[in-house]
Amino acid sequence: MSLSQQRILIIGGSNGMGLAAAQRLAALQADVMIVGRSQEKLDKALSAIEGPAAAYVADFTDAQSLGALFQRVGHIDHLVLAASSSAAWGPFSSVGATALRGALEGKLLGYWQTLQAALPHLRRDGSVVMLSGAASRTAMPGTAGLAAVNGAITQMAQTLAKELAPLRVNVVSPGLVDTPAYEGMPADGKAAMFAGAARSLPVGRTGTSDDIAEAIVYLLGNGFTTGALLDVDGGARMAGSGSMNGDQSPA
Ligand SMILES: NC(=O)c1ccc[n+]([C@@H]2O[C@H](COP(=O)([O-])OP(=O)(O)OC[C@H]3O[C@@H](n4cnc5c(N)ncnc54)[C@H](OP(=O)(O)O)[C@@H]3O)[C@@H](O)[C@H]2O)c1
Repeated sequence: MSLSQQRILIIGGSNGMGLAAAQRLAALQADVMIVGRSQEKLDKALSAIEGPAAAYVADFTDAQSLGALFQRVGHIDHLVLAASSSAAWGPFSSVGATALRGALEGKLLGYWQTLQAALPHLRRDGSVVMLSGAASRTAMPGTAGLAAVNGAITQMAQTLAKELAPLRVNVVSPGLVDTPAYEGMPADGKAAMFAGAARSLPVGRTGTSDDIAEAIVYLLGNGFTTGALLDVDGGARMAGSGSMNGDQSPA
């Protein structure tokens, strides 16, 4: 299915995987719209996209902001949910209710209410791609909070693929990818985490935003795929029982 001229809204399109997807889609002549909270990041992202693209400031955790966004955007053919504002990361005993609530609101609830707000504007037989996370696909100590949030996204997507048909609903589950999400980490801790992960993965490296973008574009364009979960994680599901018990952040 050609994505040329298709109106595709990417929540979280100003950085990382969402931006990489916007770049690929613009190259395919899609009508790309990126969303984030920071105008500055959106401006920078627009300058990195070759082709037609528009940017909108909105916060996907805020229902009013979403309402205003969809009034401005109008009709769309496809929706990509690639944002996350907060993650509950660390050993189970250290993740309090406030942190978990923040992570649920900053991702699961954001996806939930964005899709609800989008539905009246979304083509009936268009599609949605949601990004979950590999922590929900493997038993890795230190990632129970990530597993809970991302596992819920995977499960709800499969139900929605039936309930909202002919709209197609698919999920990409990314493994560890070096994006601005890790900017706040101390450089040596980050380097050690990425090097350790690369050693443990069957493919011998961590991911790039473009690895994930390629999967997003595939799911948007393949009209015979719905309710699918695509693991783009370098084989993290088979990588053994490594742990992420440090105080590092996201995913
Ligand atoms: N990176 C990884 O290793 C990894 C692994 C597994 C899963 N994931 C998941 O993959 C997705 C993309 O991750 P990433 O690493 O590419 O993230 P990223 O580089 O941190 O980019 C996040 C994007 O989301 C936007 N955003 C954040 N909160 C928002 C909000 N409340 N409303 C609207 N936009 C918001 C950000 O812009 P503003 O800050 O300006 O709002 C930015 O454009 C996330 O769902 C993440 O959980 C990532």
